[in-house]
Amino acid sequence: MQRLAPSILSANFAKLGQEVTDVIDSGADIIHFDVMDNHYVPNLTIGPLVCEAIRPITDAIIDVHLMVQPVDRIIPDFAKAGANIISFHPEASNHIDRTIGLIKEQGCKAGLVFNPATPLYYLDHVLDKLDLILIMSVNPGFGGQTFIPEALNKLRAVRKRIDASGKNIMLEIDGGVKVDNIAEIARAGADTFVAGSAIYQAGKDADAHRYDSIIAAF
Ligand code: DX5
Ligand code: ZN
Repeated sequence: MQRLAPSILSANFAKLGQEVTDVIDSGADIIHFDVMDNHYVPNLTIGPLVCEAIRPITDAIIDVHLMVQPVDRIIPDFAKAGANIISFHPEASNHIDRTIGLIKEQGCKAGLVFNPATPLYYLDHVLDKLDLILIMSVNPGFGGQTFIPEALNKLRAVRKRIDASGKNIMLEIDGGVKVDNIAEIARAGADTFVAGSAIYQAGKDADAHRYDSIIAAF
């Protein structure tokens, strides 16, 4: 199953509720929710309060991408706020297995995120416990960056490991995903595609139902 996950990082925050319902009504599957702390990454975005605010307006999966350090203490807040998936970066956690356990204890699905230079050995002892693996195809912190092609090799390697495990683990790609590279990314093994600027920037100046044609193009 392939899923499109618009990143609300590029949405118009002055009308965020509408921006969420619009992409879901236009056929997107997941809301990707980028949390940045101006510490682990050089940008500051949104937290559990915003997650709680959008939870009642959609049944779609809310996929929280934590770019924060420390990680653990914010997890219960996001679970209470209605997150369905919570992903974190191994470098930002002191105890990766513990953080995964904490996410699952809170009733959420757990994801591990790999920056462009993060080695895949972090999967070695925890892959079976994961629900999602997120491969970053940009360095985290900002929307609108250019896709780093090396991410394709990483996707192929992770796809092999997931298939060998026999587990149902989502393989997500995040950063620089566009209409013109998504086919190649899918061939490399991704099944869940985050797209921020390619959806929200493209839709900014258009009319009502403005995301229909943009999302259909993916
Ligand atoms: C970057 C974020 C991404 C970002 C993607 O740190 O994790 O989710 O919003 O934006 P685009 O699709 O514009 O690269
Ligand atoms: Zn993200």
